[in-house]
Amino acid sequence: MPDGEKITSEGDGMKPRKSASRFKQPRRSSFRGNDSKKKNQVKAKIKNEESECGIPGLKTFSSDSSKKVKSDLLSVKCSVSDISKQKGLRPIVGLTAYDAIMSRAVSNSGVDFILVGDSVGTTLLGHATTIPVRLDDIVRHTQAVQRSNPNCLVVADLPFGEASYSFDRLLESCCRLMQEGGADAIKVEGGKDLADDIEKLVATGVPVLGHIGLLPQTVKAIGGYRKYGTEREEAESLYTDAITLEEAGCFAIVGEMIESKVATKLAEQILPPLIGIGSGSGCDGQILVTTDLLGWSNGAIPSFVKPYCDLNGMISKALHGFVEDVRKKKFPST
Ligand code: KIV
Repeated sequence: MPDGEKITSEGDGMKPRKSASRFKQPRRSSFRGNDSKKKNQVKAKIKNEESECGIPGLKTFSSDSSKKVKSDLLSVKCSVSDISKQKGLRPIVGLTAYDAIMSRAVSNSGVDFILVGDSVGTTLLGHATTIPVRLDDIVRHTQAVQRSNPNCLVVADLPFGEASYSFDRLLESCCRLMQEGGADAIKVEGGKDLADDIEKLVATGVPVLGHIGLLPQTVKAIGGYRKYGTEREEAESLYTDAITLEEAGCFAIVGEMIESKVATKLAEQILPPLIGIGSGSGCDGQILVTTDLLGWSNGAIPSFVKPYCDLNGMISKALHGFVEDVRKKKFPST
């Protein structure tokens, strides 16, 4: 796709969607365009808050979770609008966590949000894909994450199939994730086909993180993992997905394995932040599977992941050391 060209949904036969409901995120005028005075005011406010909490752009929280919220503007720990409004100001960072110990470490790193992803299926539960992961699994892992009292938004992943039975079932599943699991928001894989139901969820008070591009839950249907948007038609279809999710009220959208030029243009053209995974540096933020970046994995790590350490190697060395010490009667020492 040539530089400077806009992606549009022209030619895909999509009708423009009706206007935003009263529950939607702020429209395009909020932090975009030439309103530099407003942008500067926002930046100054964030800088001020940073000096209090030490986490870039995170409002008024200390890493000590026992401290009280200082802002009189917030009645919830961390809201989805704290994330949406970082678009254009600084990159947004998300990481996965599935239990209390991991969640504590991830939260203390200063991320904007934790995703209790269905990647728990492939990373911790030994499945080959995310398809076997059930709603009960995500409820239990979200509860575990919330028990560590993280200082950031906790998003729970809606498992395979749950969005497609009926709106009532979808709402019921989201209610379980929020009421039993304690999730602050729900991630739903899928684009334009789910936009009407997502709009109703948002109107009910369920904050939704969209997910377009590669949808790992469709792996059995699409036959494998690949890049999306390399052909013009697919890039236009991604644009339609993104714009319908924006209009449905998603507070941000994950864009997985989208051709990087297309992802950059999408990020420029939509209001919610586009959080990339394997979609290049032009996105508004990045999310990764934590075990991948830590080098703690049973399977292959995607090529776009930069390893920040080799936990497999470190753990193996430590465990071998223990076994050897016991066999050589070096442990216990007395
Ligand atoms: O389940 C997950 O971890 C995800 C990320 C890869 C975005 O969906």
